[in-house]
Amino acid sequence: MSEKRGNWASKLGFILAAAGSAVGLGNIWKFPYVTGRNGGGLFVMVYLVCVVLVGLPIMMAEVLLGRATQASPVVAFRKLAGGRSPWVATGWMGVAAGFMILSFYSVVAGWTLMYIYLSLTGELVAKSADDINNLFGALVSNPGASLGCHAMFMAVTVAVVAGGVQTGIERTARVLMPALLISLLLLLGYSMTLDGFGAAMTFIFSPRVDNFSAVAVLEAMGQAFFSLSLGMGAMLTYGSYLDRDTGIVKASLWVALLDTAIAIISGSVIFPIVFSNNLPAAGGKGLVFKSLPIAFSNLPAGQFLSVVFFTLLAFAALTSTISLQEVVTSSFIDLYGWGRRKVALASGLVIFLVGVPSALSFGDGFFGKGLTGLTGRSFFDNMENLSSNWMLPLGGMIIALFVGWRVKEDERFEEFTRGTPWGGVYTAWLTLVRYVVPLGVALVLLYQVGILEMLGVGTINK
Ligand code: TRP
Repeated sequence: MSEKRGNWASKLGFILAAAGSAVGLGNIWKFPYVTGRNGGGLFVMVYLVCVVLVGLPIMMAEVLLGRATQASPVVAFRKLAGGRSPWVATGWMGVAAGFMILSFYSVVAGWTLMYIYLSLTGELVAKSADDINNLFGALVSNPGASLGCHAMFMAVTVAVVAGGVQTGIERTARVLMPALLISLLLLLGYSMTLDGFGAAMTFIFSPRVDNFSAVAVLEAMGQAFFSLSLGMGAMLTYGSYLDRDTGIVKASLWVALLDTAIAIISGSVIFPIVFSNNLPAAGGKGLVFKSLPIAFSNLPAGQFLSVVFFTLLAFAALTSTISLQEVVTSSFIDLYGWGRRKVALASGLVIFLVGVPSALSFGDGFFGKGLTGLTGRSFFDNMENLSSNWMLPLGGMIIALFVGWRVKEDERFEEFTRGTPWGGVYTAWLTLVRYVVPLGVALVLLYQVGILEMLGVGTINK
Protein backbone atom coordinates (compact mmCIF):
# COMPACT_ATOMS: atom_id res chain seq x y z
CA MET A 1 0.00 0.00 0.00
CA SER A 2 1.32 3.43 -0.78
CA GLU A 3 1.21 6.02 1.94
CA LYS A 4 -0.68 9.27 1.55
CA ARG A 5 1.37 11.82 -0.36
CA GLY A 6 2.89 14.60 1.70
CA ASN A 7 2.01 18.27 1.57
CA TRP A 8 3.28 21.52 3.10
CA ALA A 9 1.59 22.81 6.24
CA SER A 10 1.59 26.33 4.79
CA LYS A 11 2.79 28.46 1.93
CA LEU A 12 5.55 29.82 4.14
CA GLY A 13 6.66 26.24 4.73
CA PHE A 14 7.03 25.78 0.98
CA ILE A 15 8.95 29.04 0.60
CA LEU A 16 11.36 28.18 3.40
CA ALA A 17 11.92 24.63 2.16
CA ALA A 18 12.39 25.74 -1.46
CA ALA A 19 14.63 28.61 -0.44
CA GLY A 20 16.46 26.08 1.73
CA SER A 21 17.00 23.96 -1.35
CA ALA A 22 18.23 26.93 -3.35
CA VAL A 23 20.43 28.45 -0.67
CA GLY A 24 23.40 26.20 -0.16
CA LEU A 25 27.05 25.67 -0.89
CA GLY A 26 26.23 27.20 -4.27
CA ASN A 27 25.63 30.56 -2.60
CA ILE A 28 28.18 30.66 0.17
CA TRP A 29 31.01 28.53 -1.19
CA LYS A 30 30.67 28.60 -4.97
CA PHE A 31 29.23 32.03 -5.74
CA PRO A 32 32.11 33.93 -4.08
CA TYR A 33 34.76 31.78 -5.72
CA VAL A 34 33.34 31.91 -9.24
CA THR A 35 32.79 35.65 -8.81
CA GLY A 36 36.40 35.99 -7.71
CA ARG A 37 37.64 33.90 -10.61
CA ASN A 38 35.65 35.95 -13.12
CA GLY A 39 36.72 39.36 -11.97
CA GLY A 40 33.78 40.53 -9.86
CA GLY A 41 31.16 43.16 -10.77
CA LEU A 42 30.44 42.38 -14.39
CA PHE A 43 30.04 38.71 -13.60
CA VAL A 44 27.58 39.56 -10.84
CA MET A 45 25.52 41.66 -13.25
CA VAL A 46 25.42 38.94 -15.86
CA TYR A 47 24.46 36.50 -13.14
CA LEU A 48 21.52 38.68 -12.09
CA VAL A 49 20.34 38.92 -15.69
CA CYS A 50 20.48 35.11 -15.96
CA VAL A 51 18.47 34.73 -12.75
CA VAL A 52 15.69 37.04 -13.97
CA LEU A 53 15.48 36.03 -17.63
CA VAL A 54 16.27 32.32 -17.42
CA GLY A 55 16.15 31.12 -13.81
CA LEU A 56 12.90 32.66 -12.66
CA PRO A 57 10.81 31.53 -15.64
CA ILE A 58 12.10 27.95 -15.30
CA MET A 59 11.43 28.00 -11.58
CA MET A 60 7.80 28.97 -12.21
CA ALA A 61 7.53 26.32 -14.93
CA GLU A 62 8.85 23.63 -12.58
CA VAL A 63 6.62 24.60 -9.67
CA LEU A 64 3.68 24.73 -12.08
CA LEU A 65 4.36 21.20 -13.35
CA GLY A 66 4.66 19.87 -9.82
CA ARG A 67 1.58 21.58 -8.49
CA ALA A 68 -0.49 20.59 -11.53
CA THR A 69 0.41 16.90 -11.37
CA GLN A 70 0.97 16.50 -7.63
CA ALA A 71 3.79 14.16 -8.57
CA SER A 72 7.58 13.87 -8.74
CA PRO A 73 9.34 14.41 -12.12
CA VAL A 74 8.98 11.04 -13.86
CA VAL A 75 5.33 10.59 -12.94
CA ALA A 76 4.62 14.27 -13.66
CA PHE A 77 5.79 13.87 -17.27
CA ARG A 78 3.93 10.60 -17.60
CA LYS A 79 0.71 12.22 -16.45
CA LEU A 80 0.98 15.15 -18.83
CA ALA A 81 2.64 13.60 -21.87
CA GLY A 82 1.61 9.96 -21.68
CA GLY A 83 3.53 7.01 -20.28
CA ARG A 84 5.56 6.20 -23.39
CA SER A 85 6.37 9.74 -24.40
CA PRO A 86 10.05 10.68 -24.83
CA TRP A 87 9.40 13.68 -22.56
CA VAL A 88 9.40 11.20 -19.65
CA ALA A 89 13.16 10.75 -20.13
CA THR A 90 13.56 14.27 -18.74
CA GLY A 91 12.15 13.04 -15.46
CA TRP A 92 14.64 10.18 -15.39
CA MET A 93 17.49 12.51 -16.21
CA GLY A 94 16.43 14.55 -13.19
CA VAL A 95 16.56 11.50 -10.94
CA ALA A 96 20.01 10.63 -12.31
CA ALA A 97 21.17 14.21 -11.73
CA GLY A 98 19.89 13.93 -8.16
CA PHE A 99 22.09 10.89 -7.54
CA MET A 100 25.10 12.55 -9.14
CA ILE A 101 24.86 16.03 -7.63
CA LEU A 102 24.14 14.78 -4.14
CA SER A 103 27.07 12.37 -4.33
CA PHE A 104 29.71 15.08 -4.71
CA TYR A 105 27.79 17.83 -2.91
CA SER A 106 27.75 15.75 0.24
CA VAL A 107 31.55 15.49 0.10
CA VAL A 108 31.98 19.28 0.30
CA ALA A 109 29.18 19.46 2.85
CA GLY A 110 31.22 16.97 4.86
CA TRP A 111 34.16 19.38 4.88
CA THR A 112 31.99 21.86 6.77
CA LEU A 113 31.66 19.29 9.55
CA MET A 114 35.45 18.97 9.75
CA TYR A 115 35.75 22.72 10.02
CA ILE A 116 33.12 23.01 12.74
CA TYR A 117 35.08 20.42 14.68
CA LEU A 118 38.41 22.15 14.06
CA SER A 119 36.95 25.52 15.06
CA LEU A 120 35.44 24.16 18.25
CA THR A 121 38.63 22.42 19.33
CA GLY A 122 40.73 25.54 18.69
CA GLU A 123 42.76 23.79 16.01
CA LEU A 124 42.48 26.83 13.77
CA VAL A 125 43.44 29.44 16.37
CA ALA A 126 46.67 31.43 15.98
CA LYS A 127 47.93 29.49 12.98
CA SER A 128 50.00 30.83 10.12
CA ALA A 129 48.51 31.09 6.66
CA ASP A 130 50.75 28.28 5.48
CA ASP A 131 49.62 26.00 8.28
CA ILE A 132 45.98 26.56 7.41
CA ASN A 133 46.56 26.07 3.69
CA ASN A 134 48.33 22.83 4.42
CA LEU A 135 45.64 21.73 6.81
CA PHE A 136 42.97 22.08 4.09
CA GLY A 137 45.08 20.02 1.69
CA ALA A 138 45.77 17.40 4.31
CA LEU A 139 42.14 17.09 5.40
CA VAL A 140 40.51 16.81 2.01
CA SER A 141 43.06 14.28 0.85
CA ASN A 142 42.71 12.17 3.99
CA PRO A 143 40.45 9.27 2.94
CA GLY A 144 39.23 8.45 6.44
CA ALA A 145 38.28 12.02 7.27
CA SER A 146 36.59 12.83 4.01
CA LEU A 147 34.71 9.52 3.73
CA GLY A 148 33.64 9.72 7.37
CA CYS A 149 32.27 13.22 7.00
CA HIS A 150 30.59 12.38 3.70
CA ALA A 151 28.93 9.43 5.43
CA MET A 152 27.79 11.56 8.35
CA PHE A 153 26.28 14.17 6.10
CA MET A 154 24.40 11.58 4.07
CA ALA A 155 23.13 9.95 7.27
CA VAL A 156 21.62 13.21 8.56
CA THR A 157 20.14 13.96 5.13
CA VAL A 158 18.50 10.53 4.92
CA ALA A 159 17.17 10.83 8.47
CA VAL A 160 15.40 14.12 7.69
CA VAL A 161 13.94 12.90 4.42
CA ALA A 162 12.79 9.64 6.02
CA GLY A 163 10.88 11.81 8.49
CA GLY A 164 8.49 12.98 5.78
CA VAL A 165 7.54 16.21 4.06
CA GLN A 166 6.01 18.11 6.95
CA THR A 167 7.68 16.53 9.94
CA GLY A 168 11.09 16.10 8.32
CA ILE A 169 11.75 18.58 5.53
CA GLU A 170 9.46 21.48 6.42
CA ARG A 171 10.28 21.42 10.12
CA THR A 172 14.03 21.38 9.46
CA ALA A 173 13.76 24.32 7.05
CA ARG A 174 11.66 26.31 9.52
CA VAL A 175 14.42 26.09 12.11
CA LEU A 176 17.54 26.23 9.96
CA MET A 177 16.61 28.98 7.51
CA PRO A 178 15.98 31.72 10.09
CA ALA A 179 19.10 30.61 11.99
CA LEU A 180 21.09 30.85 8.78
CA LEU A 181 19.79 34.30 7.95
CA ILE A 182 20.51 35.65 11.42
CA SER A 183 24.07 34.28 11.54
CA LEU A 184 24.77 35.60 8.08
CA LEU A 185 23.61 39.10 9.05
CA LEU A 186 25.73 38.89 12.18
CA LEU A 187 28.78 38.09 10.07
CA LEU A 188 27.86 40.85 7.63
CA GLY A 189 27.88 43.30 10.54
CA TYR A 190 31.38 42.13 11.35
CA SER A 191 32.59 42.39 7.75
CA MET A 192 31.26 45.94 7.49
CA THR A 193 33.69 47.03 10.19
CA LEU A 194 36.70 45.81 8.20
CA ASP A 195 39.05 48.04 6.17
CA GLY A 196 38.52 45.91 3.12
CA PHE A 197 34.73 46.42 3.03
CA GLY A 198 34.88 49.31 0.57
CA ALA A 199 37.19 47.45 -1.76
CA ALA A 200 34.92 44.43 -1.55
CA MET A 201 31.83 46.45 -2.46
CA THR A 202 33.65 47.88 -5.45
CA PHE A 203 34.76 44.40 -6.44
CA ILE A 204 31.25 42.94 -6.23
CA PHE A 205 29.22 45.80 -7.64
CA SER A 206 31.28 47.79 -10.10
CA PRO A 207 31.44 46.22 -13.53
CA ARG A 208 34.96 46.05 -14.90
CA VAL A 209 36.01 44.04 -17.90
CA ASP A 210 39.31 42.70 -16.63
CA ASN A 211 39.28 38.95 -16.08
CA PHE A 212 35.86 38.78 -17.72
CA SER A 213 35.61 36.53 -20.75
CA ALA A 214 32.81 35.03 -22.82
CA VAL A 215 33.16 31.89 -20.72
CA ALA A 216 32.02 33.93 -17.75
CA VAL A 217 28.57 34.17 -19.32
CA LEU A 218 28.40 30.39 -19.40
CA GLU A 219 29.55 30.15 -15.85
CA ALA A 220 26.98 32.74 -14.80
CA MET A 221 24.16 30.78 -16.38
CA GLY A 222 25.41 27.47 -15.00
CA GLN A 223 25.68 29.07 -11.59
CA ALA A 224 22.11 30.39 -11.86
CA PHE A 225 20.81 26.88 -12.59
CA PHE A 226 22.78 25.34 -9.78
CA SER A 227 22.06 28.02 -7.22
CA LEU A 228 18.31 28.08 -7.88
CA SER A 229 18.16 24.24 -7.84
CA LEU A 230 16.76 24.15 -11.36
CA GLY A 231 16.76 21.70 -14.23
CA MET A 232 16.38 18.37 -12.43
CA GLY A 233 12.95 18.56 -10.86
CA ALA A 234 13.78 19.68 -7.32
CA MET A 235 11.46 22.67 -7.55
CA LEU A 236 8.97 20.47 -9.40
CA THR A 237 8.99 17.97 -6.54
CA TYR A 238 8.62 20.67 -3.88
CA GLY A 239 5.87 22.24 -5.99
CA SER A 240 4.04 18.92 -5.97
CA TYR A 241 3.46 19.24 -2.23
CA LEU A 242 1.69 22.57 -2.74
CA ASP A 243 -2.02 22.88 -2.45
CA ARG A 244 -3.47 23.19 -5.96
CA ASP A 245 -4.88 26.60 -5.07
CA THR A 246 -1.65 28.17 -3.82
CA GLY A 247 -0.36 30.69 -6.33
CA ILE A 248 3.04 30.01 -7.84
CA VAL A 249 4.16 33.46 -8.99
CA LYS A 250 4.85 35.21 -5.72
CA ALA A 251 6.15 32.06 -4.04
CA SER A 252 8.71 31.56 -6.85
CA LEU A 253 9.69 35.23 -6.69
CA TRP A 254 10.36 34.89 -2.97
CA VAL A 255 12.53 31.84 -3.43
CA ALA A 256 14.61 33.46 -6.19
CA LEU A 257 14.89 36.70 -4.22
CA LEU A 258 16.05 34.96 -1.04
CA ASP A 259 18.55 32.88 -2.97
CA THR A 260 20.01 35.86 -4.80
CA ALA A 261 20.09 38.06 -1.72
CA ILE A 262 21.93 35.39 0.24
CA ALA A 263 24.49 34.90 -2.53
CA ILE A 264 25.20 38.65 -2.58
CA ILE A 265 25.32 38.87 1.21
CA SER A 266 27.72 35.91 1.31
CA GLY A 267 30.00 37.70 -1.12
CA SER A 268 29.74 40.81 1.03
CA VAL A 269 30.75 38.79 4.09
CA ILE A 270 33.61 36.91 2.47
CA PHE A 271 35.37 39.44 0.22
CA PRO A 272 35.97 42.10 2.92
CA ILE A 273 37.69 39.40 4.98
CA VAL A 274 39.69 38.26 1.96
CA PHE A 275 40.75 41.78 0.98
CA SER A 276 41.52 42.96 4.51
CA ASN A 277 44.00 40.11 4.80
CA ASN A 278 45.54 40.61 1.36
CA LEU A 279 44.41 37.18 0.24
CA PRO A 280 43.70 36.39 -3.43
CA ALA A 281 40.08 36.86 -4.58
CA ALA A 282 40.47 34.09 -7.14
CA GLY A 283 41.08 31.52 -4.41
CA GLY A 284 39.10 28.73 -6.07
CA LYS A 285 37.51 25.81 -4.21
CA GLY A 286 39.56 26.60 -1.11
CA LEU A 287 38.37 30.22 -0.84
CA VAL A 288 36.07 29.83 2.13
CA PHE A 289 37.93 26.83 3.55
CA LYS A 290 41.37 28.46 3.50
CA SER A 291 41.05 32.22 3.32
CA LEU A 292 38.38 32.58 5.99
CA PRO A 293 40.10 30.43 8.62
CA ILE A 294 43.33 32.35 7.94
CA ALA A 295 41.55 35.59 8.64
CA PHE A 296 39.65 34.23 11.65
CA SER A 297 42.70 32.61 13.17
CA ASN A 298 44.27 35.88 14.29
CA LEU A 299 41.16 37.64 15.55
CA PRO A 300 40.16 37.89 19.19
CA ALA A 301 36.65 36.60 18.46
CA GLY A 302 37.87 34.54 15.53
CA GLN A 303 37.12 31.17 17.02
CA PHE A 304 33.53 32.17 17.70
CA LEU A 305 33.08 33.64 14.21
CA SER A 306 34.57 30.53 12.71
CA VAL A 307 32.16 28.24 14.55
CA VAL A 308 29.24 30.46 13.49
CA PHE A 309 30.36 30.57 9.87
CA PHE A 310 30.92 26.85 9.37
CA THR A 311 27.73 25.94 11.24
CA LEU A 312 25.82 28.24 8.97
CA LEU A 313 27.49 26.67 5.96
CA ALA A 314 26.53 23.21 7.19
CA PHE A 315 22.90 24.31 7.71
CA ALA A 316 22.74 25.80 4.24
CA ALA A 317 24.18 22.61 2.77
CA LEU A 318 21.79 20.39 4.70
CA THR A 319 18.57 22.03 3.47
CA SER A 320 19.99 21.55 -0.05
CA THR A 321 21.05 17.93 0.31
CA ILE A 322 17.57 17.25 1.69
CA SER A 323 15.98 18.52 -1.52
CA LEU A 324 18.26 16.44 -3.72
CA GLN A 325 17.54 13.34 -1.65
CA GLU A 326 13.81 14.14 -1.77
CA VAL A 327 13.72 14.14 -5.59
CA VAL A 328 15.19 10.65 -5.64
CA THR A 329 13.08 9.42 -2.74
CA SER A 330 9.73 10.78 -3.89
CA SER A 331 10.36 9.50 -7.41
CA PHE A 332 10.65 5.91 -6.23
CA ILE A 333 7.72 6.30 -3.84
CA ASP A 334 5.49 7.68 -6.63
CA LEU A 335 6.68 5.16 -9.20
CA TYR A 336 6.58 1.94 -7.23
CA GLY A 337 4.65 2.72 -4.06
CA TRP A 338 7.59 1.73 -1.85
CA GLY A 339 7.78 3.06 1.72
CA ARG A 340 9.49 6.40 2.29
CA ARG A 341 11.92 5.19 4.95
CA LYS A 342 13.13 2.23 2.96
CA VAL A 343 13.56 4.25 -0.20
CA ALA A 344 15.40 7.06 1.59
CA LEU A 345 17.77 4.65 3.29
CA ALA A 346 18.50 2.51 0.24
CA SER A 347 18.97 5.41 -2.19
CA GLY A 348 21.01 7.33 0.38
CA LEU A 349 23.33 4.36 0.66
CA VAL A 350 23.76 4.16 -3.11
CA ILE A 351 24.43 7.91 -3.27
CA PHE A 352 27.03 7.58 -0.55
CA LEU A 353 28.78 4.89 -2.59
CA VAL A 354 28.62 6.92 -5.80
CA GLY A 355 30.25 9.73 -3.81
CA VAL A 356 33.20 7.64 -2.63
CA PRO A 357 35.40 8.35 -5.67
CA SER A 358 34.52 12.05 -5.36
CA ALA A 359 35.59 12.01 -1.72
CA LEU A 360 38.88 10.44 -2.85
CA SER A 361 39.42 13.01 -5.59
CA PHE A 362 41.63 15.39 -3.70
CA GLY A 363 44.69 13.28 -3.03
CA ASP A 364 47.37 11.83 -5.26
CA GLY A 365 45.39 8.64 -5.79
CA PHE A 366 43.63 7.37 -8.89
CA PHE A 367 40.45 9.49 -8.61
CA GLY A 368 42.41 12.69 -8.06
CA LYS A 369 45.79 13.15 -9.64
CA GLY A 370 45.70 9.75 -11.33
CA LEU A 371 42.52 10.51 -13.22
CA THR A 372 43.74 14.02 -13.97
CA GLY A 373 46.49 12.40 -16.00
CA LEU A 374 43.88 10.46 -17.99
CA THR A 375 40.96 12.86 -18.42
CA GLY A 376 42.44 16.20 -17.38
CA ARG A 377 40.08 16.30 -14.43
CA SER A 378 39.49 14.58 -11.13
CA PHE A 379 36.45 12.33 -10.65
CA PHE A 380 34.86 15.07 -8.55
CA ASP A 381 35.30 17.67 -11.28
CA ASN A 382 33.93 15.33 -13.92
CA MET A 383 30.80 14.66 -11.86
CA GLU A 384 30.30 18.33 -11.18
CA ASN A 385 30.87 19.31 -14.77
CA LEU A 386 28.62 16.64 -16.27
CA SER A 387 25.72 17.31 -13.90
CA SER A 388 25.85 21.08 -13.43
CA ASN A 389 27.06 22.23 -16.82
CA TRP A 390 25.20 19.73 -19.00
CA MET A 391 22.34 17.92 -17.31
CA LEU A 392 20.86 20.91 -15.49
CA PRO A 393 20.83 23.32 -18.47
CA LEU A 394 19.54 20.55 -20.74
CA GLY A 395 16.84 19.60 -18.22
CA GLY A 396 15.87 23.24 -17.76
CA MET A 397 15.61 23.77 -21.49
CA ILE A 398 13.42 20.72 -21.98
CA ILE A 399 11.17 21.75 -19.10
CA ALA A 400 10.80 25.21 -20.66
CA LEU A 401 10.03 23.71 -24.09
CA PHE A 402 7.54 21.30 -22.58
CA VAL A 403 5.67 23.92 -20.61
CA GLY A 404 5.96 26.54 -23.33
CA TRP A 405 5.00 24.47 -26.36
CA ARG A 406 3.58 21.10 -25.36
CA VAL A 407 1.21 21.93 -22.48
CA LYS A 408 -2.10 23.20 -23.90
CA GLU A 409 -2.67 26.95 -23.81
CA ASP A 410 -5.91 26.89 -21.80
CA GLU A 411 -4.47 24.47 -19.25
CA ARG A 412 -1.23 26.43 -18.98
CA PHE A 413 -3.01 29.74 -18.55
CA GLU A 414 -5.37 28.29 -15.96
CA GLU A 415 -2.52 26.69 -13.99
CA PHE A 416 -0.35 29.80 -14.07
CA THR A 417 -3.04 32.23 -13.01
CA ARG A 418 -4.84 30.13 -10.42
CA GLY A 419 -4.42 31.38 -6.86
CA THR A 420 -2.32 34.42 -7.72
CA PRO A 421 -3.19 38.10 -8.12
CA TRP A 422 -0.10 38.32 -10.36
CA GLY A 423 -1.60 36.54 -13.35
CA GLY A 424 -0.89 39.65 -15.43
CA VAL A 425 2.70 38.60 -15.93
CA TYR A 426 1.53 35.49 -17.83
CA THR A 427 2.40 36.76 -21.28
CA ALA A 428 5.83 37.97 -20.25
CA TRP A 429 6.53 34.65 -18.55
CA LEU A 430 5.32 32.65 -21.55
CA THR A 431 7.56 34.66 -23.88
CA LEU A 432 10.57 33.95 -21.70
CA VAL A 433 9.73 30.25 -21.39
CA ARG A 434 9.05 29.83 -25.11
CA TYR A 435 11.89 31.82 -26.65
CA VAL A 436 14.39 33.38 -24.27
CA VAL A 437 15.11 30.32 -22.11
CA PRO A 438 15.53 27.78 -24.93
CA LEU A 439 17.66 30.15 -27.00
CA GLY A 440 19.78 31.23 -24.05
CA VAL A 441 20.41 27.67 -22.91
CA ALA A 442 21.00 26.46 -26.48
CA LEU A 443 23.70 29.07 -26.87
CA VAL A 444 25.35 27.91 -23.67
CA LEU A 445 25.25 24.28 -24.75
CA LEU A 446 26.52 25.03 -28.25
CA TYR A 447 29.31 27.02 -26.74
CA GLN A 448 30.24 24.13 -24.50
CA VAL A 449 30.36 21.73 -27.40
CA GLY A 450 32.76 24.16 -29.04
CA ILE A 451 30.57 24.95 -32.05
CA LEU A 452 30.57 28.68 -31.53
CA GLU A 453 34.28 28.50 -31.09
CA MET A 454 34.61 26.78 -34.44
CA LEU A 455 32.58 29.57 -35.99
CA GLY A 456 35.02 32.01 -34.48
CA VAL A 457 32.69 33.55 -31.90
CA GLY A 458 34.98 33.95 -28.92
CA THR A 459 37.33 31.37 -27.50
CA ILE A 460 37.22 29.14 -24.51
CA ASN A 461 40.26 29.05 -22.33
CA LYS A 462 39.76 25.82 -20.46
N1 TRP B 1 20.93 25.04 -4.99
C1 TRP B 1 21.79 24.38 -4.07
C2 TRP B 1 22.99 25.27 -3.83
O1 TRP B 1 23.06 26.36 -4.30
C3 TRP B 1 22.20 23.02 -4.53
C4 TRP B 1 21.06 22.20 -4.96
C5 TRP B 1 20.09 21.67 -4.19
C6 TRP B 1 20.71 21.86 -6.27
N2 TRP B 1 19.16 21.02 -4.95
C7 TRP B 1 19.52 21.14 -6.22
C8 TRP B 1 21.30 22.14 -7.47
C9 TRP B 1 18.93 20.70 -7.38
C10 TRP B 1 20.70 21.69 -8.63
C11 TRP B 1 19.51 20.99 -8.60
O2 TRP B 1 23.89 24.90 -3.13
